Amino acid sequence: ARTAALIVAAGRGERMGGAVPKQFAPLGRSTVLAHAVAAFQAHGGIDQVLVVIGAGHEAQVPAGVRAVIGGIERRDSVRAGLAALDCTHVLIHDAARPLLPAPVIDRLLAALGTAAGAVPVLPVADTLAHGDALLGAVVPRAGLLRVQTPQAFRYDAIVAAHEAWDDAATPTDDAQVARAAGYDVVTVEGDNALEKLTYPQDFAAAEARLAARLV
Ligand code: CTP
Ligand code: MG
Repeated sequence: ARTAALIVAAGRGERMGGAVPKQFAPLGRSTVLAHAVAAFQAHGGIDQVLVVIGAGHEAQVPAGVRAVIGGIERRDSVRAGLAALDCTHVLIHDAARPLLPAPVIDRLLAALGTAAGAVPVLPVADTLAHGDALLGAVVPRAGLLRVQTPQAFRYDAIVAAHEAWDDAATPTDDAQVARAAGYDVVTVEGDNALEKLTYPQDFAAAEARLAARLV
């Protein structure tokens, strides 16, 4: 197998705000994006790393790492990356999830031995409810999952799934694209370290994890 890591880093980070898009912000001794790249480079099961970057941000790609230009929606960026790859399996990952424990990659690669797709998941711990200013009905959380990245696929399957996807809808991840095309996606255990950096306060949690070597 030839296994690629595809890191999407072409977003604008609007909910985060800040001087630069969140994936280029400092984290520990490097940047958010550099952490994600390093996690894959350090894993023996990953043969190549490709970063999808926004036009004008090419200088933010760590030295020696291949990059292509992304698109308007996350899915456009994923498709640009997939088109540039020559591999049998691909792990599609958000640059905004910089802390990626090696055992998660191990579990995904093991699952790909038999499945077309595999995703890391965690259970929901909080009570879930509808509502705005006023609290609405509770959503039963039994059986609900938090779906993280990296998401691992057979390359031919995820390419075919993206081709079949209805362009009118905007998926938030690739597993839903694979499922819509009829592919089975199995779950593996995720990791709290993989939490996505979405809002400013999320950086403090990531810095604390790094400082405590919790990844
Ligand atoms: N992404 C991308 N191309 C896009 C949009 C998103 O490569 N057109 C990437 C982001 O860089 C991020 C991942 O997809 O690594 C997950 O997206 P999200 O957390 O929503 O990041 P942003 O879209 O940058 O943030 P926001 O939605 O707050 O603007
Ligand atoms: Mg977004």
